Amino acid sequence: MSRLIVVSNRVPQPGAPSTGGLAVALRAALEAEGGIWMGWSGKTCPDDEDPGFTLHQNGAITWALSDLTERDLAEYYQGFANSALWPLFHYRLGLTEFARGDSAGYHRVNRLFAERLAGMVRPGDLTWVHDYHLLPLGSELRTRGISGRIGYFHHIPWPSPDVFLALPGAERLLQAMTAYDLIGFQTAVDAQNFEACLLRALPARRQGADMVCGTRRFRVGAFPISIDTAGFERRAAQAAGEPTLRRMRASLTGQRLLIGVDRLDYTKGIPERIGGFRRYLSDYPDQAGQVSFLQIAPRSRSDVEQYEALEREIATLAGQLAGEWGRLDWTPLRYVNRAFGQNVLAGLYRQADVALVTPLRDGMNLVAKEFVASQDPGNPGALVLSRFAGAVQELGNGAIVVNPYDQEAIAQAISRALAMPLPERQSRHTAMMRSLRANTVFDWCRTYLTALEGHEMGLEKLPA
Ligand code: F6P
Repeated sequence: MSRLIVVSNRVPQPGAPSTGGLAVALRAALEAEGGIWMGWSGKTCPDDEDPGFTLHQNGAITWALSDLTERDLAEYYQGFANSALWPLFHYRLGLTEFARGDSAGYHRVNRLFAERLAGMVRPGDLTWVHDYHLLPLGSELRTRGISGRIGYFHHIPWPSPDVFLALPGAERLLQAMTAYDLIGFQTAVDAQNFEACLLRALPARRQGADMVCGTRRFRVGAFPISIDTAGFERRAAQAAGEPTLRRMRASLTGQRLLIGVDRLDYTKGIPERIGGFRRYLSDYPDQAGQVSFLQIAPRSRSDVEQYEALEREIATLAGQLAGEWGRLDWTPLRYVNRAFGQNVLAGLYRQADVALVTPLRDGMNLVAKEFVASQDPGNPGALVLSRFAGAVQELGNGAIVVNPYDQEAIAQAISRALAMPLPERQSRHTAMMRSLRANTVFDWCRTYLTALEGHEMGLEKLPA
């Protein structure tokens, strides 16, 4: 019987309940098909030891978790994946650090994963590789004799050739990616950029709906990821009674609430957003005391230098804003470096009048979608959304779309969002909900896997 094999750098804890939409959908697909979820265990070992590899069986799913040596982690994850590929894919050439050692470590870890996985794949299995940590994994699996279907989904943006080809070894990565049967992107623009890279750097050509390179024929397409829309609607409607949310509401004492929720990452445009809010206060000083901005930003990848620098920059900006505008009885910006569970987040989204989702570049941005799904349809909040988030393709019909680099534009958008009359908020919300109901994370999963296999798998157990 054919099984599904999912491979991603991060893997949810085998025993713990999944809350993120992606983890819920992939688990549901794995349970429907039976299969394996493979990735990094989150553990490291000394460089002179063999990284451990453990298998846990949980219902229909086998969790295959590999440790990494400390050197592997430094070169593959902190180095090549997060100091070279991540900034490059987000159009930040100035932040991109190329080191041959990191590239070698990245390919070494992909080989390690492939060696461990190859022994487990059976003929007829469908393998689905996720994200930029694992670009060459498909090719490493082919080298080890795996001939079944292998797909890859890229969760982050894919830049134009002029940016991508600045990466030393870019051609090697592109060549490796031709080992996949289906390469999925968040948006049509990402897919076009990828095809343009292939056409520019390899002897590749388009043939009908396929790309052809040497003996390989594969498909490239856009599969926008989404959320568990109904799940978020339900959570948000039920969250009001949560003690944390009641305390939050009481603390607002009638003020309007702006919300931002992001991993603390330089792609998210947090300094520019704080600058936009500061500009709003100086353009509309009568609003001081009337509006409060909650920015939730859990720390992320703190071992990577650029992230440490960003933490310091944002802390300084937040402090300056508080010092300049704060009053004894009003804090303009609540800046919180903690992560919250999905129930609390859904409730906070519903309490907020406006969400500021202004990344400088983002593959999709699920916060924008979660915020919309969490609104009370009778009195929905407004979404301010970056023109450089993938989500703008589906939510641009109802969001106030801004250039995230333009702090004056952010200030104006805040003012417009706060002043938006109820009928306009409702009609924008209805338009955005239409998109979110038409494409949930379960649809995303089903559509991708159906395209990879070429016909329906037994995915009928996924929620409709
Ligand atoms: O969406 C991009 C992504 O890198 C995912 O692959 C990842 O799980 C998430 O962001 C969080 O990043 P990290 O795993 O580096 O903490």
